[in-house]
Amino acid sequence: MAVWRITRQIRRMRRDWDQRARENARYYVVTGQDRWSDEEFYESGHVTLEEDILNDLANVCQGMDPKDMRVLEIGCGAGRVTRALAGFFGQVYAVDISRRMVRQARRAVEGFPNVRVFRNNGMDLGAMREHWWNRFGLGAKLQVDFAFSCMVFQHIPSHAIIESYVREIYRLLRPGALFKFQVQGSSLVEPEPDDTWVGVPFSERDAREMAERCGFELRYQRDAGSQYYWLWYFKKPEPR
Ligand SMILES: C[S@@+](CC[C@H](N)C(=O)[O-])C[C@H]1O[C@@H](n2cnc3c(N)ncnc32)[C@H](O)[C@@H]1O
Repeated sequence: MAVWRITRQIRRMRRDWDQRARENARYYVVTGQDRWSDEEFYESGHVTLEEDILNDLANVCQGMDPKDMRVLEIGCGAGRVTRALAGFFGQVYAVDISRRMVRQARRAVEGFPNVRVFRNNGMDLGAMREHWWNRFGLGAKLQVDFAFSCMVFQHIPSHAIIESYVREIYRLLRPGALFKFQVQGSSLVEPEPDDTWVGVPFSERDAREMAERCGFELRYQRDAGSQYYWLWYFKKPEPR
């Protein structure tokens, strides 16, 4: 895809999500209600933790103690799930394209010294790697044991941008580890290239082919054809 188009889409995503965060961040993060108390908002993050992580520990932890695990969240929004992850895993890294969302996420995880929230460029994890290199020296290897993303990629209007994240996550994940995430699965939507609310749809074939191209095995999937299409990508061993 043309670089100019990706650059424009990223600029729009950042602008629109900053605007949504300014208007009513929690509403745009979970549109179920327009006023959320702290308690309700963070409880909804716990529900996500329970339903999508605690109910799936064999795949997520693969025998590791969660307190020994470093995990990554893509598109953390106002820190709803990040805060729940922080209470369960040893170390949490989270990224989001919107400066205002990142500000709210940092507030949500105050008091959790095991979390770092980064504003990233909307398509890769360079900001995180830079932080790691500043801490441990240029070229030091950052590895994560699990990566997670919910309700993010279904807002992204470009397969190329989503695939850029999948390739980045491949680089960071430990071999065999899981990237569990959602995409837009509904073929009924007709997204505009610059729409930052309704993202590009993925068919089962798209999901399988992207996994293959990026070095993952698509082992499980759920709710194909729906707006919340879940994918379990396991990192294949790195080629020698
Ligand atoms: C609907 S919210 C969900 C937030 C969070 N995952 C949750 O479930 O509470 C979508 C989030 O994705 C972020 N986002 C959208 N496009 C992104 C991109 N290209 N890179 C990183 N974050 C992005 C937005 O800024 C927003 O915070």
